[in-house]
Amino acid sequence: MRILLTGGAGFIGSHIAEAYLAAGHDVLIVDNLATGRRSNVPAGATLHEVDIHSREVERIFADFRPEIVNHHAAQASVKVSTGDPVHDLEVNGGGTARIGLLAAQNGARKVIYASSGGTVYGEPTELPVPESHTLAPVSPYGLSKLIGEQYLQLWHRTHGLDYTVLRYSNAFGPRQDPHGEAGVVAIFTGLMLNKQQCTIDGDGEQKKDYCYVGDIARANVLALETGSGAALNIGTGQGTTVNQIFAALHEATGNAIPARNGPPRPGDVRNFWLDIRAAKDVLGWSPEVSFDEGIRRTVASYA
Ligand SMILES: NC(=O)c1ccc[n+]([C@@H]2O[C@H](COP(=O)([O-])OP(=O)(O)OC[C@H]3O[C@@H](n4cnc5c(N)ncnc54)[C@H](O)[C@@H]3O)[C@@H](O)[C@H]2O)c1
Repeated sequence: MRILLTGGAGFIGSHIAEAYLAAGHDVLIVDNLATGRRSNVPAGATLHEVDIHSREVERIFADFRPEIVNHHAAQASVKVSTGDPVHDLEVNGGGTARIGLLAAQNGARKVIYASSGGTVYGEPTELPVPESHTLAPVSPYGLSKLIGEQYLQLWHRTHGLDYTVLRYSNAFGPRQDPHGEAGVVAIFTGLMLNKQQCTIDGDGEQKKDYCYVGDIARANVLALETGSGAALNIGTGQGTTVNQIFAALHEATGNAIPARNGPPRPGDVRNFWLDIRAAKDVLGWSPEVSFDEGIRRTVASYA
């Protein structure tokens, strides 16, 4: 299949590019390298270093005529979204509106879209959080990702474009930027391998859903053929505490420096994990890489 993948030079997108190439597909990447890296792009994929809002993208769609559009390009930081909500809306909401419309206008069969299970629901009223949970984001980022979902629904109604929305929990694994604000696994791994001390926010007993990036990439492969018109949670269905992450990395890196506890992060949701039964029913997907195995692979890749 001809697949146009936006954000393919980023953390998650580069794993999807690898998985699509391994399955024998033709992969063209659109990425402006805002946070992505040329070195993340696997051999065999073609990178066009352009912005999703540029005129150049129109020509790329017309020339390549993708059968599938996989949209991962985004402003992916909650913190940045709070500082500049309009920029966040333009990249994520406006960007998804544009990419979806170009897909429809150029004859693509389907868009696969990276949404955010950790932010589109807002404060959870039940755990694990099912897809039917109220959609009430508490950050500009959560809202802009949700608006992206709604644009795909709109292009379906008006243009017949098919889509699958994948709502990820917290991804972790090789190539995650250890300098970013998100990604406690990457941050701690970077610090520990550099023999530095980690700071745990609050008491470290806050529990979130951490999914290995290779499992996320596999969901994107399955979504090529299944998941029509669905929005599906992609996570592990379980919570892992920051203290557990610290202990696992302590062991995997051999760093013996104890952590210090800092103040709790203001506004942080304490407990959050996703109900992943629908992804199993609809895509035939469930996570295969255990947390400990994911940690081993992550540390090996950074070392
Ligand atoms: N990392 C997570 O835990 C997580 C969780 C839920 C959803 N997501 C979503 O998954 C996707 C990938 O996230 P990631 O963690 O790999 O982040 P990332 O920053 O590594 O990847 C985003 C990519 O998009 C590119 N990009 C940004 N703005 C662009 C623009 N205007 N034009 C072209 N390219 C642009 C960046 O250069 C980068 O390569 C995003 O859509 C994000 O919202 C991530």
